[in-house]
Amino acid sequence: MKEGHFITFEGGEGSGKSTQLKLFAEYLANSGKEVVLTREPGATEVGKEIRRLLVEGDKDKFDEITETLLFYADRRINLTKIVFPALKEGKVVLSDRFNDSTIAYQYYGAAKFKNTEVMDTLYKVVAGDFKPDITFLLDIDVKEGLERSFKKAQGMENKELRFEKADISFHERLRNGYLELAKKEPERFIVINAAQEVSKVRDDIIKAYEAHQHKEERQ
Ligand code: TYD
Repeated sequence: MKEGHFITFEGGEGSGKSTQLKLFAEYLANSGKEVVLTREPGATEVGKEIRRLLVEGDKDKFDEITETLLFYADRRINLTKIVFPALKEGKVVLSDRFNDSTIAYQYYGAAKFKNTEVMDTLYKVVAGDFKPDITFLLDIDVKEGLERSFKKAQGMENKELRFEKADISFHERLRNGYLELAKKEPERFIVINAAQEVSKVRDDIIKAYEAHQHKEERQ
């Protein structure tokens, strides 16, 4: 694999991907890698403003095109300000969510687009042929994930629940959508059972990453 690679963490609500991303970053740093963490939406100052528009408020406040355009605007900023410059310097970039989130949430979940043409076109505009080297998909039962997510939000004055408010079938569709994406691109996706204990999920991620690295080295 080339120096400087791009690894994304994906999953539904309450899958624990943000915790796991931090643990994986620690592991990489301990093995001597220079790591940069980013997230979508909202990794930059402008991105934070876009994030607030997207994750707060009424779940039906945007039509599907407006919502999708906002995610791609944020993605463009993330790529040009954080991801591309860090990769150029040979760093490993970990992103908490990336383009697969848009396919999972806005296409599969919301189920308002006939196909992914809008997303595919916008992706080309903001990213060209660039793709993540590895995508960890943290898969968990929808009810279990939502319970975790609401529990975490309790008492925290968390206003960022716009997507959690969608009905359960939205979350079922997006979970199955993610699994379909993983099936389509098995060389990029690594599916992890996120219902296990935090330390077991962490170990599974590291094991899968090391196996992936050995495979790359042999090629
Ligand atoms: P995130 O900060 O990862 O929240 P959480 O930790 O609750 O998963 O993402 C914020 C929300 O934005 C989340 O509900 C998923 C949603 N989202 C999309 O709908 N489409 C996208 O393209 C992205 C990047 C996120």
